[in-house]
Amino acid sequence: MIYFDHAATTPVSLDVLNTMKPFFSEKFGNPSSIYALGREAKDSLNAARHSIQKLLDADKPGEIIFTSGASESNNLAIKGTAFYADKVLNIKPHLLVSAIEHHSMLDSAKYLAKHFGYEVEYIPVDSEGRVDPEIVKKMIKNNTVFVSVMYGNNETGTLEPIAKIGKMIQSIKNQRLKTHSETPLVFHTDAVQAFQYFNCDVNRLNVDMLSLTAHKFYGPKGVGLLYIRQGTKVLPQQQGGTQERGRRAGTENAPYIIGMAKAMERAVEDREKNEKITSELSDYLTERIMKEISDVETIGPKDVMKRLPHISTFIFKKVEGESILINLDLKGIAASSGSACTSGSLEPSHVTKALGYSDMEAHGSVRFSLGKLNTKNDVDELMKFLPKIVEKLREMSPIK
Ligand SMILES: Cc1ncc(COP(=O)(O)O)c(C=O)c1O
Repeated sequence: MIYFDHAATTPVSLDVLNTMKPFFSEKFGNPSSIYALGREAKDSLNAARHSIQKLLDADKPGEIIFTSGASESNNLAIKGTAFYADKVLNIKPHLLVSAIEHHSMLDSAKYLAKHFGYEVEYIPVDSEGRVDPEIVKKMIKNNTVFVSVMYGNNETGTLEPIAKIGKMIQSIKNQRLKTHSETPLVFHTDAVQAFQYFNCDVNRLNVDMLSLTAHKFYGPKGVGLLYIRQGTKVLPQQQGGTQERGRRAGTENAPYIIGMAKAMERAVEDREKNEKITSELSDYLTERIMKEISDVETIGPKDVMKRLPHISTFIFKKVEGESILINLDLKGIAASSGSACTSGSLEPSHVTKALGYSDMEAHGSVRFSLGKLNTKNDVDELMKFLPKIVEKLREMSPIK
């Protein structure tokens, strides 16, 4: 099998698995228990938190909140901030989220608008999927409490100018302080796809919150984190325990958290090496597809400095992306159309549409997301089949 869907998930690497193993049945204590077995788990959990704090250049270990993944982190970020503004500060919140966010952010924003009447606006992107910090600045109002722009997009690979937006937001916060305004302004980024390849130091990025999930960088599924800058207030979305300083109740998933810390250490160590592997392979793949198949377009920035190295999405005109995927699967090749999280639904990808593509074009998109174990041979194998599959589907297609 050839796997080109690393933006959907990655296999757990062996060193991560071995680091996790003792915490399932030997060192299995509840980190909240006071006896030795519990303290042992607590110590390892603390060590993981300290390590992650350093890897993100956070000021305090308590700024790292462990969650079940980035979906939960994104929910907590927007809902926790909006509810704190409304229920504690009595401010009717205005929320800004980019049009290309993951559904866990977009659907949370829609939920808040629908059920609580909060004002939500979507930040537009240009034809390459990029957010303009000047547009964000113009959209911020006196009651804006939350802005979310992802670091790197999971479908187009577009990198967003997070540090620049963060700096601009900081100056608005300073103005609010001067005028003694009580309205908070939280800047959040979803760095799920970017972490493996780009420095995610929270102070360099000027963010107040940052979401990650371990399974995108060779860690386990079902564990993630939300970085919350000290002093940033959220209303917890889960009650029933004092874990995570009262911001996320529930027994900590010690084995997975420890595994995530290991996967993060490894990802940071190997960043340059993995960036080189995936960007060279992406270039090779793009070159061959563009040369060997007609009527194809790449989505997102062409400039390598403005994109994630591992994501290459193409629009194959006059053919359904889903049909290409089914045919590739028959040859043992895994890829995806749009984002894996939306596949299965007939809705064309909201990301492709936000870039200005028509429904028909959006339906023809296929994403190949590469990983550190892919080789040139994998691409050669794919290219044995892909041109023929597209040709056959076009012959059968009623759209000419
Ligand atoms: C950009 C982005 N954010 C959030 C998520 C959600 O992560 P999880 O499913 O681990 O909660 C994903 C997963 O596809 C993603 O790609």
